[in-house]
Amino acid sequence: MAQFVRGLIFASLGSLIAGQTINTAKGPVAANKNTVAPAAAVVPASTTKSNFDWENVQLTPSVLANLTNLNLTDISLFNFPTAQSVSARSASTSQCKVFPGDAEWPSPIVWEILNLLSGDALIKTVPLAAPCFSSWPEYNATLCATITSLWNTPQLHVADPTSTQWPLWEDLTCLPPSLRSEATTCTLGGYASYSINVTNVAQIQLALNFARNLNLRLVVRSTGHDFAGKGIGAGALSLWTHNLNDLEFYPSYTYGSYSGPAFKLGAGVMTEDVYALAEANGVTAVGGECRTVGMAGGYIAGGGHSPMSSLVGMAADQVLSIEVVLPNGEFVTADANTNPDLFWALRGGGGSTFGVVTSLVIQAYPKVPVTTMTFDFTMSSTLSADTFWNGVRAYFTYFAVFPDAGTYGYFNIVPNGAGGYTFTFDPFWGGNMTKPQLQTLVAPFLKDLSDLGIPVAPVFTEYASLRPAWNASFPPENVGGWTNHAASRLFPRENFENATLLNETLAAVRYAIEGGAILVGYNIKSAVNPHANQNNSVNPAWRKTLTHFILPGLWDANATFATIQNVSETLTNDWIAKWRAVSPGAGSYFSEGDINEPDFQQAFYGSYYPQLYALKQQLDPYGLFYAPTGVGSEDWYVTGQIPYVPTQNGRLCRTS
Ligand SMILES: Cc1cc2nc3c(=O)[nH]c(=O)nc-3n(C[C@H](O)[C@H](O)[C@H](O)COP(=O)(O)OP(=O)(O)OC[C@H]3O[C@@H](n4cnc5c(N)ncnc54)[C@H](O)[C@@H]3O)c2cc1C
Ligand SMILES: *[C@@H]1O[C@H](CO)[C@@H](O)[C@H](O)[C@H]1NC(C)=O
Ligand SMILES: *[C@@H]1O[C@H](CO)[C@@H](O)[C@H](O)[C@H]1NC(C)=O
Ligand SMILES: *[C@@H]1O[C@H](CO)[C@@H](O)[C@H](O)[C@H]1NC(C)=O
Ligand SMILES: *[C@@H]1O[C@H](CO)[C@@H](O)[C@H](O)[C@H]1NC(C)=O
Ligand SMILES: *[C@@H]1O[C@H](CO)[C@@H](O)[C@H](O)[C@H]1NC(C)=O
Ligand SMILES: *[C@@H]1O[C@H](CO)[C@@H](O)[C@H](O)[C@H]1NC(C)=O
Ligand SMILES: *[C@@H]1O[C@H](CO)[C@@H](O)[C@H](O)[C@H]1NC(C)=O
Ligand SMILES: *[C@@H]1O[C@H](CO)[C@@H](O)[C@H](O)[C@H]1NC(C)=O
Ligand SMILES: *[C@@H]1O[C@H](CO)[C@@H](O)[C@H](O)[C@H]1NC(C)=O
Ligand SMILES: *[C@@H]1O[C@H](CO)[C@@H](O)[C@H](O)[C@H]1NC(C)=O
Ligand SMILES: *[C@@H]1O[C@H](CO)[C@@H](O)[C@H](O)[C@H]1NC(C)=O
Repeated sequence: MAQFVRGLIFASLGSLIAGQTINTAKGPVAANKNTVAPAAAVVPASTTKSNFDWENVQLTPSVLANLTNLNLTDISLFNFPTAQSVSARSASTSQCKVFPGDAEWPSPIVWEILNLLSGDALIKTVPLAAPCFSSWPEYNATLCATITSLWNTPQLHVADPTSTQWPLWEDLTCLPPSLRSEATTCTLGGYASYSINVTNVAQIQLALNFARNLNLRLVVRSTGHDFAGKGIGAGALSLWTHNLNDLEFYPSYTYGSYSGPAFKLGAGVMTEDVYALAEANGVTAVGGECRTVGMAGGYIAGGGHSPMSSLVGMAADQVLSIEVVLPNGEFVTADANTNPDLFWALRGGGGSTFGVVTSLVIQAYPKVPVTTMTFDFTMSSTLSADTFWNGVRAYFTYFAVFPDAGTYGYFNIVPNGAGGYTFTFDPFWGGNMTKPQLQTLVAPFLKDLSDLGIPVAPVFTEYASLRPAWNASFPPENVGGWTNHAASRLFPRENFENATLLNETLAAVRYAIEGGAILVGYNIKSAVNPHANQNNSVNPAWRKTLTHFILPGLWDANATFATIQNVSETLTNDWIAKWRAVSPGAGSYFSEGDINEPDFQQAFYGSYYPQLYALKQQLDPYGLFYAPTGVGSEDWYVTGQIPYVPTQNGRLCRTS
């Protein structure tokens, strides 16, 4: 089918290829942004909901009909699907997406037409570190030094159209050379081939139609934070949503049964911006701890855990409505009454699966006081390993009590450099608590530590609201590294309420850490909240859990892929296997999970998987959207992957 379409383009655009012109009724004209208008029309604003202006800029049938005037009618590659085009796809013998170098890969002039019709928004990928390499025209040693020094800051990657915060899944094909001994060349690797710098809905529709009709790989990328690199892919056209950053506050918003404060977020809005606007307006938004994660992108799509979760539930529970472009190019609303099945799926079932979200509306809460507690304890000549682990055990015995009181305990256990370990609260977060309230809550725990002979010096700090507490507690995180990858587990309540199971859980945690992993732990729950809409596809394991335990396996910056493979396999098949064994039937958070998770359907989606998969088949019979471990991803594979290090540097093909 792709070949068929391309044949028609070449027939009608013969002169265009040779002379860079487009035939019009008035004769051939130079094809440039002065002669080819963006394929977009401003549609009348809805009277029932407030879209952002750019959501009213759409690709309509009359816009497509107008392409006839450019004599581009034959470019059916921009058309919405018909029943015929769907059956043509299913009859196609092509098992793989078209890849650069294939005969079917669009020629430069076809990409240029996409560029012109999208309003000059197409960006041909230059890897972020290309200025470090003399083989690239962008070579510039000064710029390379800047890129190298900023490589571990999220903003550097956020602001790049195609980069990822987790370059391992790209395949490490273009890193600043001083950071890795093997980084001596720079190729495109797993980065997308082209991106569209999205600023309106029409561009998304145009790109989806183009990728679907030409059988190209498509990726959606907001900030690139996803732990499995779900926003990258070799040979892909990428929709870069970062610039859809409009953000509005509605002091009193009524929608369905909800009445109260709300925010409308463009798909690219980052957590720190929402928190700042919430603070300015005297309310609390339910977001995560990372400053630069895209709230309306992968975060809410995956469920979204928050320092507020033990009080009000998941971020996905706070959503009132979503605007989304479907795989067929149609722009629709999803809420409790309109497209309710889609609304259910978009809140927990994962990004890059059911469509491209352009904006969503979330409810907000009054400001709450926050009190944090920090302290650490470490193994030493006077604090034995067994005493240390008994201290951790003492904490585990409060894992139900604390979140039931609304708290969120963020802590880590890492090597202390002397062959032992250090436990650190980073911080223990008492949401909606004054300092005396938190001190009262944790007093029995502190006494237990004291009785064990573990001296700690807790520091309590009370804040008037979430924003200052969060700003003081969660500095910008280090990203851009390739020296670890993580698995995670949502251990349910019984693991901490049953003393036998608690000991088994602790033993499984200790085994992994003594094996060489580190623990990034959350003692958290998803509170039942009658004032939020919790009928969504958030992993059912989240509703039972008292933890989100992230377990990064580590190696050094110059590790070979063989070493990375070794640690990754150990992580999946040994360390986390023991965690699974003590929590059978529980799950894992797929936004911060193991790309190699066996039976990922059960672990990441639980009992909702069949329903999510059926909806995926219904909305995307074309197989347009793919993301590793996403719903339906078992129907695809990427060529050239080595076991346990599945990079996106290969061709995407159907498994059958
Ligand atoms: C340092 C760090 C801290 C984190 N802290 C938290 C936390 O506190 N709580 C928490 O729950 N999670 C946290 N996460 C995980 C985070 O939720 C996920 O990484 C999430 O996928 C990031 O979404 P993004 O859109 O910013 O990233 P991206 O990598 O750009 O996108 C993630 C996925 O969503 C898809 N996607 C993005 N935008 C859209 C869209 N508009 N429409 C459809 N699909 C889209 C992408 O295709 C991709 O599959 C953290 C991650 C990091 C790296
Ligand atoms: C459209 O292009 C075709 C093929 O190049 C040509 O025969 C036809 O005259 C063109 N029509 C217009 C309206 O320019
Ligand atoms: C179609 O083209 C005509 C003539 O160029 C223009 O006036 C009109 O606005 C276009 N319509 C759309 C929907 O783009
Ligand atoms: C190299 O990059 C630096 C820093 O961005 C810039 O100031 C300079 O103009 C660049 N040099 C060239 C030759 O482009
Ligand atoms: C990795 O290699 C780089 C470049 O050769 C070197 O500067 C760095 O010190 C090495 N890092 C480690 C952890 O060995
Ligand atoms: C993307 O589009 C925005 C808005 O038009 C513009 O400000 C920005 O410079 C563009 N970025 C790139 C890399 O083209
Ligand atoms: C939850 O939403 C789904 C999807 O719209 C719907 O079928 C189901 O009836 C709802 N369940 C409840 C308990 O409201
Ligand atoms: C905070 O506590 C107050 C007083 O107990 C309660 O009324 C309010 O609902 C709580 N807020 C949240 C978000 O839990
Ligand atoms: C955030 O914290 C930093 C120090 O950690 C401080 O300099 C800055 O002023 C704070 N910002 C806000 C808005 O509170
Ligand atoms: C759990 O471990 C602790 C500390 O080792 C021990 O004292 C306790 O008896 C164990 N409990 C059970 C039920 O095995
Ligand atoms: C506690 O957990 C153990 C180990 O899984 C199990 O054998 C036992 O039946 C559980 N006890 C209760 C009361 O559920
Ligand atoms: C990893 O390497 C260690 C040390 O060479 C070896 O004992 C272990 O079996 C390897 N594990 C895997 C999964 O290859």
